[in-house]
Amino acid sequence: MNDRRPSRTLVAASVLDSDLGALGDEVRRAEAAGVDRIHLDVMDGHFVPNITFGWKTVEALRRVTALPFDAHLMIAQPGRWVNRFLDAGCDSVTLHVEVDADQVRPALGQIRAAGRSAGLSVKPGTPLAALDPYRDLLDIVMVMTVEPGFGGQAFLADVAAAKLAPARAWLDPGGASEVHVDGGGRGETAEAIGRGGTDVIVAGSALYRAQDMAAEVARIRSIADAARTSTLPGQG
Ligand code: DX5
Ligand code: ZN
Repeated sequence: MNDRRPSRTLVAASVLDSDLGALGDEVRRAEAAGVDRIHLDVMDGHFVPNITFGWKTVEALRRVTALPFDAHLMIAQPGRWVNRFLDAGCDSVTLHVEVDADQVRPALGQIRAAGRSAGLSVKPGTPLAALDPYRDLLDIVMVMTVEPGFGGQAFLADVAAAKLAPARAWLDPGGASEVHVDGGGRGETAEAIGRGGTDVIVAGSALYRAQDMAAEVARIRSIADAARTSTLPGQG
């Protein structure tokens, strides 16, 4: 687990929209393009209307790169499967606060007990207040700026404006925890995202559909950083 907030905006590649027939190469491509993390979208066809991949795929990708893995579990029963993703080598695991409440604390506890970063994600329609009962177990708040389930959707700017800065302020600004934004991350939205003090920007289609992935990574990071700097402790 981190001991303090990232000093610059981090970019995490979501491989959801990559060439899934060459997933290992697509992870290597993102690493070569300068991303900081790999964001793994796990969907069960129940919590969201799509099915992606499981821990066996994560395990295989773990052999491809040393980059940190952020698992994003869009599954109805995270408590049942979380240990598999930890064993597969995820550095952080984020589940959704909208699953059955009795599952959330035990799953976050399992992640923390394994010495990894524990996170909760909130759908666009879910208020940040839903996170209140779990504050003591959170290292990551992931704000969804699209309805979870698919890549390539339009960025919900109103959700970002309403939630990012409050999430940052709520989640110990001086500490080690991170705010992630997920959905529609690209150069055109990076300023709004950075202004909210976001630490990690997830980008999928913006990277895998880019002519020049490295240029897009650098663009996202520099635009977000310029806007984010004023939100850092001692910078305002
Ligand atoms: C959507 C996923 C996102 C998605 C991001 O449910 O959680 O991680 O893949 O892709 P883009 O950046 O294309 O919105
Ligand atoms: Zn995601």
